[in-house]
Amino acid sequence: MNLVLMGLPGAGKGTQADKIVEKYGVPHISTGDMFRAAMKEGTELGLKAKSFMDKGELVPDEVTIGIVRERLSKSDCENGFLLDGFPRTVAQAEALENILVELGKKIDYVINIQVDQSILMERLTGRRICKSCGATYHLVFNPPAEPGTCDRCGGELYQRPDDNAETVQNRLEVNMKQTQPLLDFYQGKGYLKNINGQQHIDQVFSDIDLLLKGLI
Ligand code: AP5
Ligand code: ZN
Repeated sequence: MNLVLMGLPGAGKGTQADKIVEKYGVPHISTGDMFRAAMKEGTELGLKAKSFMDKGELVPDEVTIGIVRERLSKSDCENGFLLDGFPRTVAQAEALENILVELGKKIDYVINIQVDQSILMERLTGRRICKSCGATYHLVFNPPAEPGTCDRCGGELYQRPDDNAETVQNRLEVNMKQTQPLLDFYQGKGYLKNINGQQHIDQVFSDIDLLLKGLI
């Protein structure tokens, strides 16, 4: 299954991606995670991405498209993939169409997780992530059993540097500008499926699961 997960920052893409990957076994391709890994390794890509991510701006299309092209060509994507946070601009979506034609693949679903922007600030500033395994929590909506500690692996939880209120505000503004044309693009192609992201995390997944089973 070839899937694209869309939604504004904080809509729950990463949270639902973990569940989709666990159930359907497709590789999770998150451009945000790829940039953060490159930053940790101190590569040229990481340094370049950091200058945009720290301000909540988008990394330039040519950089982002290049890393996705390379990643989709890997053998573990032969039987499917889950793109999370890519494409984010119409130029990226058009480039993805070309990459998929080259690889002889097509998108099955573009899943758009819909959440009202008014609640995204609280979701993002309250997010905490495990340093060891990457599991995502929320101080109020999905707290770990022991504060500051990952339920899954006992690792320490931290706050993403771009989850401060000022950067979140800019991320929301930047992404909102890009979203509607992208939704129109996929609506026109007939791939777009909207999912209500303002329900309990498990209910959101249950809706996605029904969609992937072809039941809704
Ligand atoms: P990226 O890492 O992709 O961040 P984002 O799009 O801003 O999205 P997030 O990861 O912040 O949110 P999410 O939707 O995954 O939410 P989550 O599940 O964690 O990108 C970061 C940066 O990289 C960008 O700003 C840009 O600079 C660059 N970048 C990445 N891709 C790019 C591209 N294609 N082009 C150019 N630049 C790019 O959930 C959030 C919180 O809410 C969590 O605490 C969670 O526990 C909680 N939560 C989740 N679901 C629910 C629910 N149903 N109810 C209550 N709480 C919930
Ligand atoms: Zn962990």
